[in-house]
Amino acid sequence: MAGIGILGFGSYVPSRVMTNDDWAELLDTDDEWITSRSGIKERRFADDSESTLDLAAAAAEQAISDAGLTADDLDEIIVATDTPEVYTPDTAAHLQHRLGAGEVTAFDLGGSGCAGFVLALDIAKTRVQATPKKVLVVGVELISRLMDWTDRSTAVLFGDGAGAVVIGEGDLVKAELLSFDAGTDGQYSDILGLETGGTRRPFSLEEAQKDGHHEIAMNGREVFRQAVRRMAASSEIVLERAGRRKDEVALVIPHQANLRIIDAVRHKLGLDEDLVYVNVDRYGNTGSATVPLAMSEAHHEGRIKPGDLVVLTAFGAGFHWSSAVLQF
Ligand code: UT7
Repeated sequence: MAGIGILGFGSYVPSRVMTNDDWAELLDTDDEWITSRSGIKERRFADDSESTLDLAAAAAEQAISDAGLTADDLDEIIVATDTPEVYTPDTAAHLQHRLGAGEVTAFDLGGSGCAGFVLALDIAKTRVQATPKKVLVVGVELISRLMDWTDRSTAVLFGDGAGAVVIGEGDLVKAELLSFDAGTDGQYSDILGLETGGTRRPFSLEEAQKDGHHEIAMNGREVFRQAVRRMAASSEIVLERAGRRKDEVALVIPHQANLRIIDAVRHKLGLDEDLVYVNVDRYGNTGSATVPLAMSEAHHEGRIKPGDLVVLTAFGAGFHWSSAVLQF
C-alpha cells in the first residue's frame, strides 16, 4: 500500500478491573444507573506502582514491534494526554528515554481531552509529508489517579489505558490516512475540564483542602449534545474530503465516552449497529486513549480487514473534535 499511514498498532490496559458493583460499594450508585446512562460495565484502573509512562510505554512497544521496527527507527514521538507523567517536562520526553529511542523530536499534545489522539495523527501525517520519517503517536490516560473518587457523576465514567501507532510511508503501510477534520468551539470551554493548577486558579493549600485539583467540572448534558452534533458532522466532512460515501464505510471507531452518545451518532449517520465499534462497556472512557485502543483491538481481533474503509471520530474538552478516514 502506498501513501502515508499506520505501520503498526499497539494498546495496553492495566490488569485491575473495577466493576460497577465495585463502585456501588464506594458511592451512592448502582450497576443499573451506570449501565443505562453510559453503557459502561467495568473499567481498568492502574495499580499504585504504575504511572502514565508505564501505560504509554507498553502500548508504544507493541506498536513498534507490530510495525517490525525497533525504537532506534523512530524519528519523532507525539503523546496525546491530559494526565501526564509529571506537570513538566512532558510525557514524550520520559517516553523517549524509556523506549531507548534516539535524540528525536518529541512533544505532548495536551489539553484537547479525548480529541487529542486523532488530532495528533493529523499532525503526524503532515510531519511525514514534510520530511519522510517514522512518527510514534500515543494516546494515554491515567485518569483514576487525578479524578475525584467521591463525585459519582464523573468518577464512574472513566478508566485508564493507552493506545499507540507508528506512522510512516511506503509498502509496509497497513492503513493509509486519507483525510482529516478537526475543529474547536472555545465558547464551550467550561462544560468539561479541570481548572485548578492553571494561572486562573493556581494550586494552593485552600484548593488542596477542598480537593480542587481533583474536581472535574462537567455539564454532562451539554457535553452529550455537543459530542453528538460534532462527531456526526465531522464524520460526514472527512468522508467528503476523502471522496468516499457512507455506504463504503466498513467500521466507525468513535470516542468511547458513553454508549448513548455512540448510538446517537450512529443514528444521525444512518449506520447499522455492526458498523460501529464499541468497547466502552469494558474500559469506560479512557480519554485520548479510547480511539487508538479501540482501533488496535479491532485490528488485532480481525474486525478490520484489508480493503476496509474506517472512520475515526472523537470529541473532547475545549470543545474540540477531530475525525479521520483510513483505508486499510
Ligand atoms: O470525554 C467526555 C467525558 N464526558 C462525557 O462524555 C459526558 C457526557 N454526558 C453523559 O454521559 C451523561 O450526561 C451522564 C452519563 C454524565 C449523565 O446522564 P444523564 O442522563 O444526563 O443524567 P443526569 O445528569 O440528568 O442525572 C440524572 C440523575 C441526577 O439526579 P437528580 O438530580 O435527577 O436527582 C444525578 O444526581 O442521576 C444522578 N446521578 C447518579 N445516580 C446514580 C449522577 N451520577 C450518578 C451515579 N449513580 N453515578
